[in-house]
Amino acid sequence: MKIESLDLPDDVIRFYLDSGIEELYPPQAEAIEKGLIEGNNLLAAIPTASGKTLLAELAMLKAISKGGKALYIVPLRALASEKFDRFRSFSSVSVKPGENRGLRVGISTGDFESRDEWLGSNDIIVATSEKTDSLLRNETSWMQEITTIVVDEVHLLDSANRGPTLEVTLTKLMKLNPNCQIIALSATVGNAYEVADWLKAKLVLSEWRPTSLREGVYYGGNINFHGSQKLIDPRTNDDAVNILLDTLEEGGQCLVFESSRKNSVSFAKRAGAKVSETLDKLTRNALDELVEQIIENGETEAANELAKCVRNGTAFHHAGLNSAHRRIVEDGFRSNKIKVISSTPTLAAGLNLPARRVIIRSYRRYDPNYGMQPIPVLDYKQMAGRAGRPHLDPYGESVLIAKSYDEMAGLFDNYIDSDAEDIWSKLGSENALRTHILSTIVNGFATTRDGLLEFIEATFFAHQNDTWGIMDVVDECLDFLRDNKMLEGDEALLPTALGRLVSTLYIDPLSGAYMVDGLKKIKNPTTIGLLHLICKTPDMRQLYLRSNESEIINDIVMAHSDEFVEIPPRSKEMEYEWFLAEVKTALLLQDWVDEKPLDPITEKFNVGEGDVHAFADIAEWLMHSMSRLAGLIAPEMSTDVSNQTALLEKRIHYGASPELIELVSIRGIGRVRARKLYDNGIKTTDSIKEAGLERVSELIGPKTALKLFNEIGLHLDIRSEEPGKVNSQTMSSLMENEQSTFSDFEK
Ligand SMILES: Nc1ncnc2c1ncn2[C@@H]1O[C@H](COP(=O)(O)OP(=O)(O)OP(=O)(O)O)[C@@H](O)[C@H]1O
Ligand SMILES: [Mg+2]
Repeated sequence: MKIESLDLPDDVIRFYLDSGIEELYPPQAEAIEKGLIEGNNLLAAIPTASGKTLLAELAMLKAISKGGKALYIVPLRALASEKFDRFRSFSSVSVKPGENRGLRVGISTGDFESRDEWLGSNDIIVATSEKTDSLLRNETSWMQEITTIVVDEVHLLDSANRGPTLEVTLTKLMKLNPNCQIIALSATVGNAYEVADWLKAKLVLSEWRPTSLREGVYYGGNINFHGSQKLIDPRTNDDAVNILLDTLEEGGQCLVFESSRKNSVSFAKRAGAKVSETLDKLTRNALDELVEQIIENGETEAANELAKCVRNGTAFHHAGLNSAHRRIVEDGFRSNKIKVISSTPTLAAGLNLPARRVIIRSYRRYDPNYGMQPIPVLDYKQMAGRAGRPHLDPYGESVLIAKSYDEMAGLFDNYIDSDAEDIWSKLGSENALRTHILSTIVNGFATTRDGLLEFIEATFFAHQNDTWGIMDVVDECLDFLRDNKMLEGDEALLPTALGRLVSTLYIDPLSGAYMVDGLKKIKNPTTIGLLHLICKTPDMRQLYLRSNESEIINDIVMAHSDEFVEIPPRSKEMEYEWFLAEVKTALLLQDWVDEKPLDPITEKFNVGEGDVHAFADIAEWLMHSMSRLAGLIAPEMSTDVSNQTALLEKRIHYGASPELIELVSIRGIGRVRARKLYDNGIKTTDSIKEAGLERVSELIGPKTALKLFNEIGLHLDIRSEEPGKVNSQTMSSLMENEQSTFSDFEK
């Protein structure tokens, strides 16, 4: 089927022809035949790299040409940026009725409690499922204008962490805009028909892939494929290194998946020594530029470690990297400067990367309850599917590694020749339901218990299970919400002001309950006490307590015993251990706001630089929430802690002491440079101007000083503009800003 034959505006057809896409892939043609462009709901459960995004694009562009607006929901930030970059190329496509302009695209991945009304001026909005949920909770007006919803990687419904939010968000969207077209994109899973049925969507199922992907297992010196073998030169005593050197020799690049961050770092280092020998002068120079950027964008030893690898043409990638480093690594690989990335599964889903070969070094992953466990087939297929992407590589190969013949046979049976598992709703637990029941009531999707049941009937959970089993859990959640004064009424369900606030703050009602209780009880609010209060909530990520740390942390607790809201008795061993782990997390945050350099923090707490940022991001959001809750319940509190929580929120954002807040609020001035200026008597924006460019240059370098002076002017510009009128440059800087506020959801 030719693109030209489709019922689409000329501008759209021209856009695709200009970019070299003339003919639809077979599954795409099937989707057209099933009414994609006429507005039918559609679920495409087709292999990796089979062009699912194009399906979404065609439907979105058609809808926009009829005056519609599209929302593209993704699970991960890396994917959000990739799609945002892609859709921005539609800025040359002008299809909006009555308007002579290219399409506008917006992205939203962070900052939960915000309506983001300005986002609504875009034709396509890319957002994570959590952000979409939050926009719904905040009753953002343009959500009702959405006519096309794309759900990328919809098989994530199966994820225990993320699935329930995606499921409830979709249920709400379908209720809110019953005529909206839904396009769901999925990996090939066993029960795609069930998801399609739930979404009232036509199903496109296919095994077709545009580029061939050969899946093999390395054993005994060969990569063994079905029906053929590829001999690998044993240049080193590391099989994976030999396989990747072979890939480079053939002119390809390599993506290596590891089971842990530590392994991903050590592999990149190890491989670097060999990869470096294969680099030409031009690549070396290009890599040196990347190295400079890496050093500029990092405070810790990890930056040096990454820089060392990149100098050799390799890199590691995991959620512990800061976002600038992640971007440099992804772009460096895309532009064929970095030859090898060894990654945790953060790069496994949806991304288009030029990987000729994917090496899966470990098909087991650590599970806190069961130890090392084999990964699901679905995860294997996602990783393997990063290889051989159209336009980037002529073919792709994925390689598992076996140590024995039997293991190799098992890998063929259990992965290569296996179909992905069925997906199952994870909405059934109290932990998953509590927060969604509250928001469903707050946003008026249900006003009575019966109405709530009707809402639940519309979820994927109810589609797969009998709902009688869930009723007890629903009633327990309702009781919890009533007991904690977030809800009133029996048959008619009425949210209280507290319930509304908890819902829009996007915190678990259990977190809200802990905070309210703590705020009422706290007598001597100090930094560690308040930080511990947020670390106690289920929304906070917890540090693991090692056995040799109990006594040290216990001593700290004793020294500050009157600052904690409540200390469980030592006799309750488990509870006390848990409490100590919360305090440990609070101590990490305290080091951060006390301006301890990142290096000692990462070493002391055995975490990555990106982790410190991730902890701080969550903590900032929770401290903000606590500050808002304190405002609401002020009369019931014995001490006024509002000012303290508001200041702590800022300190967490910048990782800085109170006296630096004014300086660090200037964009581009981090806490390290701010400290340098402050200690040299330059303590405010005015004193920067007074000191003059020369003096400031002496302290923080001429390049940054120049940026800083520009920034002081630019800052004023941003504030003076109305949100609706921001120009694109300002818009993108705002978005950069926003993206860095919640660096969360990496798997
Ligand atoms: N009809 C077509 N002709 C040529 N190239 C195409 C066509 N359709 C899609 N492509 C290209 O195929 C590549 C892969 O597509 P895409 O990222 O949409 O895959 P996907 O199915 O979403 O895979 P994954 O499951 O890994 O997310 C893109 O570079 C896209 O431009
Ligand atoms: Mg995709």
